[in-house]
Amino acid sequence: MKHSELSLFKEKSQKITCLTAYDASMAKILDQAGIDSILIGDSLGMVVQGGENTRSVSMNDMIYHTSIVSGACSNALIIADMPFNSYNNPKDALNNAKALINAGARMVKLEGGSEHTEVIKTLISNNINVFGHLGLQPQLVVSSDDYRVQGRDEDSAKTIISNAILLESLGVSALVLECIPSDLAKTVSEKLKIPTVGIGAGSDCDGQVLVSYDMLGITKGKQPRFVRNFLNNQNSISDAVETFIAEVKEGNFPSQSESY
Ligand code: KIV
Repeated sequence: MKHSELSLFKEKSQKITCLTAYDASMAKILDQAGIDSILIGDSLGMVVQGGENTRSVSMNDMIYHTSIVSGACSNALIIADMPFNSYNNPKDALNNAKALINAGARMVKLEGGSEHTEVIKTLISNNINVFGHLGLQPQLVVSSDDYRVQGRDEDSAKTIISNAILLESLGVSALVLECIPSDLAKTVSEKLKIPTVGIGAGSDCDGQVLVSYDMLGITKGKQPRFVRNFLNNQNSISDAVETFIAEVKEGNFPSQSESY
């Protein structure tokens, strides 16, 4: 799928499905199950490398995982996360984004809003397709206590809305909304022409993303309420992924009790 097709999904009111992959075997399963897009997330810092947060992930890590995931896929749109400290200024951001595109990504995702205006302008004017990420920004999380629902008060909700509008006006193609109240995600999704892809942001987003290790029950410990174990009652990982796709497409995931 091409990045430009993301907006067509929204125009046709079809939900976008996205899961993370970090290796060729999982990427092949997701691709063959018919997932629309695959994110090589810097969540690999936790789920693959066993770290506390995403901050230790390097550009070399992202290039390596992007190249093996993209090499295993024929259909899904491949999105690679720009890791912490890789987009501190427009010049570094452009070099690093180009390296991820050369490794096989069709789009790069970066966290944050107006503070990255110059970076985003530079990437887009150099034909790099950008996926935004607002709400909870995992790269700002240092300890597990920092995982909190964002945008609950009026001021922070307004900031998320204004950043979303700004990112769209800069030419960003789509937007992850993480861990925000579903009412706020609905407002943002209605205000934008570009699609929103939610994680812990309710069912009114234009698509849904989960960390594959979470939705397969591999991640241990207490899970946030937006994580559903899709492997429950299924015979294989492929069946679990197909169930995720069907539940998102039909608007059955997330439910109200899986939202804020
Ligand atoms: O790194 C990641 O897996 C992500 C998702 C949580 C959206 O950014």
